[in-house]
Amino acid sequence: MPLAYPSQRVAYPYFVVALLLFVLQVIVGIWLALSYALTIPQWLVDLLPFSTTRAVHTNLLVLWLLLGFMGSTYFMAPEETEREIYSPTLAYIQLLLLVGTGVTALAGFVFGWTKGKPLLEIPFPLDYLVVVGALIFLFNVGMTILRARQWTVIQGSLFGGLVFLAVMYLFNLPFYANLSIDWYYWWWVIHLWVEGAWELVAAALTAWILIKITNVPRATVEKWLYVELGLFLFTGIAGTGHHYYWLGAPSYWLWVGGIFSALEPVPILLMLADAWHYLRNRRSEIKGRLVFTYAVGMAILHFVGAGVWGFAHTLPQINYYTHGSQITVAHGHLAFFGAYVLLNLTFFYYAMPKLKGLTLFNERRGNIAFWWLSITMSVMTLAFSVAGVLQTHIERIMGLGYMTAQAQMRLSFAILAVLGVVFLGGVLLTVVDLMTLRPGPSAKEAA
Ligand code: HEM
Ligand code: HEM
Ligand SMILES: [Fe+2]
Repeated sequence: MPLAYPSQRVAYPYFVVALLLFVLQVIVGIWLALSYALTIPQWLVDLLPFSTTRAVHTNLLVLWLLLGFMGSTYFMAPEETEREIYSPTLAYIQLLLLVGTGVTALAGFVFGWTKGKPLLEIPFPLDYLVVVGALIFLFNVGMTILRARQWTVIQGSLFGGLVFLAVMYLFNLPFYANLSIDWYYWWWVIHLWVEGAWELVAAALTAWILIKITNVPRATVEKWLYVELGLFLFTGIAGTGHHYYWLGAPSYWLWVGGIFSALEPVPILLMLADAWHYLRNRRSEIKGRLVFTYAVGMAILHFVGAGVWGFAHTLPQINYYTHGSQITVAHGHLAFFGAYVLLNLTFFYYAMPKLKGLTLFNERRGNIAFWWLSITMSVMTLAFSVAGVLQTHIERIMGLGYMTAQAQMRLSFAILAVLGVVFLGGVLLTVVDLMTLRPGPSAKEAA
């Protein structure tokens, strides 16, 4: 089946680069776990300090997820607007610019060229190139929407989320001499990205996929999209306060952050209920079982990782003990995986067959990979959580030293290193499967 719009093809290189960076990110993750589990020789630590490898791991994550979102947007925009992409050439230039900047930044980290702000290590002037890339993207998508035959809520919320995302990044550019203020704005990027802008992007992409794989009327999906967007913004923006408890901000943030962030699981639960409702009632009509599996898995693990693991440490009375511990890391992994890794993979599995001209493809490997990744990441989250409970108890309740806690956490990290290798196997299977999709009815449909 040919693509509905030839310019949707620009999504393909975005997906391929994203998948390759995903593999690299996970390899570096295994190295991080090993640096907790083993005593790394000092010369190697001097060469590659933990702060550097951690920056590489997390920046690769953010880079590939964003490239995936951009590719997905380019794939979706023509079908929604009934127009070709304004300029496919610009889309390729943008990809080259962003990947070039990203790779330069990652190489720079290894030589100590970093801004030093966690997750936003990309130094000046590379961060300005990121802004240029984002502007090209917004211009290209914006022009496509402007010439749209029809304006839809899905286009609007996707574009709104992308603009919000880009504007927040601007707060990362200056350096504020007062560190409390610097951290205050740092969270405008980190928190308002994953719990604000990215949630809007996720809600829009998910709504679109639901319309595509089921026969739910667009009006029904769009009605819930409005409610979800409103709730995400309402709880997510004030919820930023859950990061202001201990950094020198006024104490009313303890209340604001505690109450609003405790409500943040509500829109996520609504999204889960929403997806569940559409998909369950229409099981027989679903086009593409694997995309269905991914969409349900995403909704569930998004809720568990962000909603449940987030809620667990969001009240100041609890966060006082768990702040910055491996509990945070456990939540960071499952939330990012459930919400945004699986979102990207859901979209890739929807779009890739079409980009390769397949109507039906063999879903067996993809199905195995889904369970492989999801189960391994869930167990990894439990292992990080065990380390976090030990750390919190030994350091913050018993008041013993940092290294006393680390000694007890080593076993968890040894297990994590092994789990990391298992996870990498699942990632490789996913990438190979997506790159070499084979025609044929899915195993289930054939049965
Ligand atoms: C998909 C959405 C989410 C993602 C990807 C995500 C990811 C993360 C990450 C990576 C961190 C660590 C940041 C750092 O200190 O370096 C973090 C911290 C935190 N998250 Fe989330 N999160 C999400 C949603 C939520 C929700 C809905 C809640 C509350 C219900 C929440 C509560 C928290 C809290 C309280 C912290 C601070 C932990 C600390 O004090 O160390 N998160 N999140
Ligand atoms: C899709 C897969 C993965 C995602 C989404 C992911 C995400 C992240 C994030 C967001 C952080 C920062 C944590 C924070 O500040 O709270 C991080 C750090 C880390 N990741 Fe991953 N990661 C993945 C795979 C892996 C794998 C396979 C391993 C290997 C076991 C791993 C091991 C680590 C370690 C040890 C850290 C450092 C934690 C620390 O600072 O103490 N990650 N990862
Ligand atoms: Fe947050």
